[in-house]
Amino acid sequence: MFAFSLLLGLLATRPVLGDTCWRNTTCSTITDTAFPGVWEDNIFAPESRLVSPESILSANDGVTIGSWNGSATLAANGSQLVFDFGKEVGGIIHLDFLVSGDSSGAVGIAFTEAKNWIGEWSDSSNGELVGPDGAIYANFTGPGKVSYVAPDERLRGGFRYVTLFLIADSASVDLSSIEIEIGFQPTWSNLKAYQGYFHSSDSLLNSIWYSGAYTLQTNAVPVHFGRWVPFLHTGWANNGTLGPGDTIIVDGAKRDRAVWPGDMGIAVPSTFVSVGDLDSVKNALQTMYDNQNADGSFPEAGPPLLQQGSDTYHMWTMIGTYNYLLYTNDTAFLAENYNGYLRAMDFIYGKVSAPGLLNVTGTRDWARWQTGFNMSEAQMILYRTLNTGSSLATWIGDADNSTLWLSRASSLQNATLEYCFDPSYGAFKDNATATTLHPQDANSMSVLFGLVGADSSTAQSISSRLTENWTPIGPDSPELPGNVSPFISSFELQAHLTIGQTERALELIRTSWGWYLNNPNGSQSTVIEGYLTNGTFGYRWSRGYDNDFSYVSHAHGWSSGPTSALTEYVLGLSITGRVGSTWSFAPQFGDLSFAEGGYVTSLGKFSASWVKSNSTTGQGGGKYSATVSTPAGTVGSLTLPVLQQGVQPIVSVDGHQVKTTWARKSGVVFDTVLVSDVKGGNHTIVVS
Ligand SMILES: *[C@@H]1O[C@H](CO)[C@@H](O)[C@H](O)[C@H]1NC(C)=O
Ligand SMILES: *[C@@H]1O[C@H](CO)[C@@H](O)[C@H](O)[C@H]1NC(C)=O
Ligand SMILES: *[C@@H]1O[C@H](CO)[C@@H](O)[C@H](O)[C@H]1NC(C)=O
Ligand SMILES: *[C@@H]1O[C@H](CO)[C@@H](O)[C@H](O)[C@H]1NC(C)=O
Ligand SMILES: *[C@@H]1O[C@H](CO)[C@@H](O)[C@H](O)[C@H]1NC(C)=O
Ligand SMILES: *[C@@H]1O[C@H](CO)[C@@H](O)[C@H](O)[C@H]1NC(C)=O
Ligand SMILES: *[C@@H]1O[C@H](CO)[C@@H](O)[C@H](O)[C@H]1NC(C)=O
Ligand SMILES: *[C@@H]1O[C@H](CO)[C@@H](O)[C@H](O)[C@H]1NC(C)=O
Ligand SMILES: *[C@@H]1O[C@H](CO)[C@@H](O)[C@H](O)[C@H]1NC(C)=O
Ligand SMILES: *[C@@H]1O[C@H](CO)[C@@H](O)[C@H](O)[C@H]1NC(C)=O
Ligand SMILES: *[C@@H]1O[C@H](CO)[C@@H](O)[C@H](O)[C@H]1NC(C)=O
Ligand SMILES: *[C@@H]1O[C@H](CO)[C@@H](O)[C@H](O)[C@H]1NC(C)=O
Repeated sequence: MFAFSLLLGLLATRPVLGDTCWRNTTCSTITDTAFPGVWEDNIFAPESRLVSPESILSANDGVTIGSWNGSATLAANGSQLVFDFGKEVGGIIHLDFLVSGDSSGAVGIAFTEAKNWIGEWSDSSNGELVGPDGAIYANFTGPGKVSYVAPDERLRGGFRYVTLFLIADSASVDLSSIEIEIGFQPTWSNLKAYQGYFHSSDSLLNSIWYSGAYTLQTNAVPVHFGRWVPFLHTGWANNGTLGPGDTIIVDGAKRDRAVWPGDMGIAVPSTFVSVGDLDSVKNALQTMYDNQNADGSFPEAGPPLLQQGSDTYHMWTMIGTYNYLLYTNDTAFLAENYNGYLRAMDFIYGKVSAPGLLNVTGTRDWARWQTGFNMSEAQMILYRTLNTGSSLATWIGDADNSTLWLSRASSLQNATLEYCFDPSYGAFKDNATATTLHPQDANSMSVLFGLVGADSSTAQSISSRLTENWTPIGPDSPELPGNVSPFISSFELQAHLTIGQTERALELIRTSWGWYLNNPNGSQSTVIEGYLTNGTFGYRWSRGYDNDFSYVSHAHGWSSGPTSALTEYVLGLSITGRVGSTWSFAPQFGDLSFAEGGYVTSLGKFSASWVKSNSTTGQGGGKYSATVSTPAGTVGSLTLPVLQQGVQPIVSVDGHQVKTTWARKSGVVFDTVLVSDVKGGNHTIVVS
């Protein structure tokens, strides 16, 4: 009887939070992984929405003291211990402890993502020109048991370490429970229920793929837990309302916890191939349409921040709309927002003037220093906007605008090549004016978005010029010198892959993302917003207000490019028509010996694999085999690397030899052959 009532008491005060979605959200129907297998060991997401630390570190030197076994003591005033969750987590902290001694006092609680910032002050999340985040306190008034739950607005969105410290004249504290109620991916009852997977012969690349996926999960947050505006002067508050629905994708776990459409070009494709949570994407896009300005412009950031004045971010909302439609065919969403989309197109195209280039007057952008006027990066983004807009217009039956936007894209392409390209250098300048700066962003995008042809010598020149920015830990971005931007590098690596420079792309992933993932001071589970080329976690140092090196976000979805790139280019499985009605399988091997992966759309599962064989029977002295599984009713193409340059291989599909045509026969990178009109189904391919 006693045990029974004790149990009831526990149930009453401590709801079982393990396998539930967050608080009052409506749970998603996604409850289990779509592709069970050994690769699930690489998922960083915890088993349960309630997590405890893994180990305890000394606050003095960060050295591990032991593992967390459910008991630790803060012996006297000033005692501190650091609790390491072993990876990025985020949510609301719950503590249970027993106070011995007479005095009142408090257990101070400070959070940090990076190990550099363990201690009595949290790392910085509240930003510019204001006071420190500091700590929160579980206060007590004398001896006895205390159960502390942080107030909702003190949800901490991203951290790996919690420092607990005692403030009391004469008391000691025995901690018996430290738990985080995970706030992210709020509508999922099973945080490991991934709808996509990737696995290959390279364990570092596999971990990087999953670190991007986990980052996106930490960026999918409950809509009432965004950063409060106006920013606080000290401390932090995450009680801002971000948009409609129950879950929404923001830029970062710790900060800024607002919708930033700059993420839509990288975070949305990576979400699609991995976690598969497109509800958070839809709500993020909807909040931009809901807050569209009278002149047709979108805000640069969603509410409550509602920062304005960015032509590039305006266009990323438009490109994000295309990406979302491509993956979901959510025609109801498009129909509801198409008028807004047309106004957005009128707004941005209205800024194109002689000589046929976009004149950027909404000058906010990602962290690059110089913006405005005929900046090349914005031309590339407008080119992508017009081409994707043309597809959107077709999908909604607006053939006239579809044609018009395509022809505008062609004119813009010509003007950009004429005024922004630097033929003597072999890459784009930063703008149409005389400048010796050849930026990473515009050049990467020119290749990725097809403003220069994938098979052209210009594209090869740009790819090669981009490598001149490389340092041992990632590219030093010329437009933000001294900084590595995994956001812009996410475009760069896809540019290399677009033109078959596989080894180059893999090297970039390993040096930059690999450096971060293996950094003992980092989260070792997520992708970082940016860092300095000298290997410190500061980002955008020297502008003044970002001098606080602890302000950088260690879980930023805009840096998750390797996740979509490894699936779409290296495994080589991508969808080319809505929800995969048409698809492409175009593997690139680099130095890998096998890769496999898949994802899900409303039509069903898509998956593929390839494996190189050591056999010497093929024409080039080797062969490889592959499988592709796509839903019935779809149609796709196979773009297959040859075994020997210039020699058409023997290709069999399901045991029958098929005709191929040359897809690429440049001799510069690996040649490829094409098999068209492959019907959906389960296919086995052998190339010899
Ligand atoms: C859910 O809780 C949040 C605060 O956590 C509140 O703002 C919101 O109105 C609640 N929604 C519903 C449907 O009760
Ligand atoms: C639990 O860990 C603490 C601190 O590391 C240690 O002092 C204690 O002896 C451990 N308790 C048990 C039961 O292992
Ligand atoms: C809780 O403790 C902290 C640290 O000592 C103190 O600053 C704060 O005023 C206390 N709060 C309350 C409500 O007693
Ligand atoms: C959010 O938290 C801040 C800081 O505590 C407070 O000033 C503000 O009123 C809160 N907003 C809401 C909607 O509760
Ligand atoms: C771009 O717009 C600015 C501000 O309206 C104007 O001063 C400038 O002349 C324009 N430049 C071009 C090349 O159209
Ligand atoms: C062109 O780009 C360079 C390098 O970023 C910059 O210094 C210059 O101000 C830009 N000029 C214009 C007109 O935008
Ligand atoms: C094409 O776009 C224009 C705005 O640029 C709009 O007025 C027109 O209605 C659109 N056409 C259709 C068929 O929606
Ligand atoms: C762009 O340039 C190409 C090649 O010179 C030309 O064929 C095409 O008509 C031009 N497009 C436009 C819209 O001017
Ligand atoms: C890295 O560079 C920043 C900015 O110049 C500087 O403040 C910092 O001290 C440097 N750190 C190291 C370890 O060199
Ligand atoms: C997309 O949705 C529309 C409207 O529901 C439908 O007519 C069309 O067939 C769908 N397209 C694909 C490729 O599923
Ligand atoms: C192919 O050769 C490599 C290197 O010698 C070896 O590691 C691998 O196991 C071999 N693979 C097969 C399928 O025999
Ligand atoms: C492919 O194979 C899977 C598993 O055997 C099966 O469920 C699916 O129906 C097959 N797809 C087609 C289109 O035949």
